[in-house]
Amino acid sequence: MQTTDWRQDRLRVKTLLQAEESPGEVFVQGWLRTVRRSKGVNFLALNDGSCMDSLQIVVEEGSPAFTTAATLGTGACVGVRGTLVASPGEGQNWEVLATQLVVYGEASESFPLQKKRHSFEYLRSIAHLRPRTNAFGAVFRVRSRIAHAVHSFFQERGFVYVHTPIITANDCEGAGEMFRVTTLDPENPPRVDGRIAWHEDFFGSKTGLTVSGQLQGELFATAFTDIYTFGPTFRAENSNTSRHASEFWMIEPEVAFADLADNCRLAEDFFRFMVTYALENCRDDLEFFNKFIDSSLIGRLEKVAATAFQSMSYTEAVERLQMSDQKFEFPVEWGCDLQSEHERYLTEKIVDGPLFVTDYPEGIKAFYMRRNDDGRTVAAMDLLVPKVGEIIGGSQREERLEVLEHKMRAFDIHPDSMDWYLDTRRWGSCPHAGFGLGFERFLMYITGMENVRDVIPFPRTPGNARF
Ligand code: 4AD
Ligand code: MG
Repeated sequence: MQTTDWRQDRLRVKTLLQAEESPGEVFVQGWLRTVRRSKGVNFLALNDGSCMDSLQIVVEEGSPAFTTAATLGTGACVGVRGTLVASPGEGQNWEVLATQLVVYGEASESFPLQKKRHSFEYLRSIAHLRPRTNAFGAVFRVRSRIAHAVHSFFQERGFVYVHTPIITANDCEGAGEMFRVTTLDPENPPRVDGRIAWHEDFFGSKTGLTVSGQLQGELFATAFTDIYTFGPTFRAENSNTSRHASEFWMIEPEVAFADLADNCRLAEDFFRFMVTYALENCRDDLEFFNKFIDSSLIGRLEKVAATAFQSMSYTEAVERLQMSDQKFEFPVEWGCDLQSEHERYLTEKIVDGPLFVTDYPEGIKAFYMRRNDDGRTVAAMDLLVPKVGEIIGGSQREERLEVLEHKMRAFDIHPDSMDWYLDTRRWGSCPHAGFGLGFERFLMYITGMENVRDVIPFPRTPGNARF
């Protein structure tokens, strides 16, 4: 039998369900999804997280395990020894005729996940147990595979993986959304002339949790050419939406000798690689989402894997929005930030697929983006996708020292405060570009799940850091 199991003494449910022939006696361990009793026989559905399906355990009267089986309830944790036999029942090839049952942990009827459909809202309130449901089993298996795909994509292309710091003194995006990290006594901080003396804090300056690994990523790109980061980022954004988490994971490649067009090409290749990977490697779980969450999911993913992404400048996007007869809550005019209703309209109604919007007004984008020759836009790009909206944000970076210093002042950032960043523009500066893909937004796109809280194991959002 083909097996990737690392243990000799027990097999995983997935391995057994895919068996070509019975190995005879087997030992499996897991949690009971359902328990069904009929005259003279107990049916236990055993799941160990290796796949969506559970393994049917049949305990017949006369088996030494029968009296034990009669006491078990949904949620209990057991080990089963028995024979793998062809299943006469529908929906599975194999089942286990049990001869021995080991009970590791019982579960009473108060176990909340009894057989019935629970709302995702309710399951969020028991996030410590929700991995034991079909939907979240699928979500977190996909999350694990897709994380691996991220590394495959970049490692196969010679990118160096950089661990950028979590604690930092710099607000990369300049949006003032950093969580403070301090060891000062909040009741009685040291003060100089009435103001808090941050220089007395642990790191000798004001620090916080990173909102992006980009700035440090840029430093590494000027040594290794092609790099990527993949780690947690934090934003104290008080927006309670279905697409914003206060702690989320971001993938940020940074590429030397690249302009905005190269950047879009990399983003498109990466996106398509990940979608194709999911279709090929997470098929059972995607079929579950297609059946229960969004019946157009697989069709949409297959289409995205096969077609080129469209691209449009911000200026054109604004014109198209103004020309549409859609009533928007926020009116659109050149210079305004696109709201999610605008983004959704562009990607869903105007192009019906992924769309790069490029060359945004300088004033609404971060300080590090490269100024275009028109003097009023920057070489920025956002990738918008149906149902999710913005999924990638990136740009070509301003590599010209004087222009960058000028821009920093305009954004109220004192150039001396980031002298280390400016040094890359002083010595061996080079054109470079990069982007950030929100990992949870990508998982929403791949699974059809509609809330960011349902694709991250333990969501952190305003007012919620339980678990
Ligand atoms: O557009 P953003 O803010 O870009 C950056 O942080 C750049 N430094 C990236 C770069 O050029 N290296 O964020 C990038 C992506 C967004 O497009 C979105 O997918 C995701 O990160 N994102 C969030 N995801 C979940 N919750 C939030 N609060 C998010 N904020 C951004
Ligand atoms: Mg953005």
